[in-house]
Amino acid sequence: AGLPPCDFTVFGGTGDLALRKLLPALYQRELEGQLPAGTRIIGVSRTELDDDGYRHAVREALHTHVTADELDEDAVRRLVDRVRHLTLDSRDPEGWHLLHDLLKDRPQVEGGEEVVRVFYLAIAPALFGPTCERLGAAGVVEDSSRVVMEKPIGTDLESARAVNDAVGRVFCEQQIFRIDHYLGKESVQNLLVTRFANTFLEPLWNSRWVDHVQITVSETLGVGDRGGYYDTSGALRDMVQNHLLQLLCLVAMEPPTYVGRETVRDEKLKVLQALKPMSPEDVDRSTVRGRYTAGLVDGAAVPSYTDDIGHPGSSTETFVAVRAEVQNWRWAGVPFYLRTGKRMDRRMSEIVVVFKEPPHAMFPHSEGVTSPNRLHIQVQPDEGMRLHMTAKEPGPGGIRLRPVSLDLSYATTFTQRSPDAYERLLMDVIRGNPTLFMRRDEVEAAWTWVEPILRRWQAAPDRPKRYPAGTSGPTAAATLLERDGRHWQESEA
Ligand code: BG6
Repeated sequence: AGLPPCDFTVFGGTGDLALRKLLPALYQRELEGQLPAGTRIIGVSRTELDDDGYRHAVREALHTHVTADELDEDAVRRLVDRVRHLTLDSRDPEGWHLLHDLLKDRPQVEGGEEVVRVFYLAIAPALFGPTCERLGAAGVVEDSSRVVMEKPIGTDLESARAVNDAVGRVFCEQQIFRIDHYLGKESVQNLLVTRFANTFLEPLWNSRWVDHVQITVSETLGVGDRGGYYDTSGALRDMVQNHLLQLLCLVAMEPPTYVGRETVRDEKLKVLQALKPMSPEDVDRSTVRGRYTAGLVDGAAVPSYTDDIGHPGSSTETFVAVRAEVQNWRWAGVPFYLRTGKRMDRRMSEIVVVFKEPPHAMFPHSEGVTSPNRLHIQVQPDEGMRLHMTAKEPGPGGIRLRPVSLDLSYATTFTQRSPDAYERLLMDVIRGNPTLFMRRDEVEAAWTWVEPILRRWQAAPDRPKRYPAGTSGPTAAATLLERDGRHWQESEA
């Protein structure tokens, strides 16, 4: 409401991302009546399709990817009515006047309001630069226009800079929205609120009281049919450079004065710049790369990674564990252990802040067990938070200690549905709010830290360590912490 109409052009309109994520997210916002009046959705692809053909594909996609109880035929029709299709090849300089004409030729908007043009690049990253160049040459980019890019932005620092330069020749930084969909997740946004809208955590949130931090993003999925992309990428580029480092930033950043479009990003950038650069020896000591072999996931037999991609000679990793350090006043000496992998024992993303032992052991002779306080922030699934503490077990005898926990579960605390990350992010693009998008300097700072790891792995002769599918990764990942006298905190499933 109150927003100007939008021409939302999706390059890669018939692709997996568009049909599985973007259109269902736009549908949900349609259902809520949030899409500005007069908004159109223009799918662009190489496929020879007319508007009706594409509308049919969109309708099918909604029926596949929206749950039955959220499907409202009226809303489906309203959304599908907004949809157009244009056959255009980003590789081909011809035909762009068609886009120009389509964007010009739109129904009169009430009140003669300006129309905001969004160009969403759900296409191969190699085409980001060329597509923007063609958009510029076709004369369709206006001051109010926005471009949205999916990761990966480059495969290392140099190529990321080249993409940013190419896009930057046509769009200024304020017009560029780089998506990291983790920032759109409810539980991730809640991290800022948990830290900064409460008083009791922040005084403890530093090296004086925090022993270390663990960030885990584990998936049960394999690489599916994305093998072509994945094999040139690997887990470090696919997950750590973006999602895990963004989570680390939100855990480690200083409080901004207010939540504004630049303030949060400024603080995240400072964290990335404070990450301790890794020497080749650090890489050998502080990183573990792994790759799944055949195994059992959720009771079903699954093939090895190399069988999945049909390339036995691959040296790509599907698992990474890293010990990172944030070199600043707040975090000096506190390790941040990150790990992520495909085909693990379960789908679970979690941040665990492990506090130090109490300064003085007052109950040394008590029975029972104690363990340090831990705050588990469950990102997905089953979003929630759990604070582990020690309590006295009721009883007339001496003092018997027992670990207990305070639990917050989103599902039982909130009645609202949790929107998909894309719903929030697409609306932010339409509203023109870049707070939850990655700025150029952030992306490049993340690559700066990741690059020595990539280089060292390329140079080192050893292969990724094996782990059977359906396990928690190679044993070397456990050793990484054991060496420091610590262990991974595995939450009960
Ligand atoms: C994507 C990666 O960015 O994130 C995928 O390219 C990964 O490999 C996905 O599976 C994980 O996202 P989510 O939201 O399912 O945790």
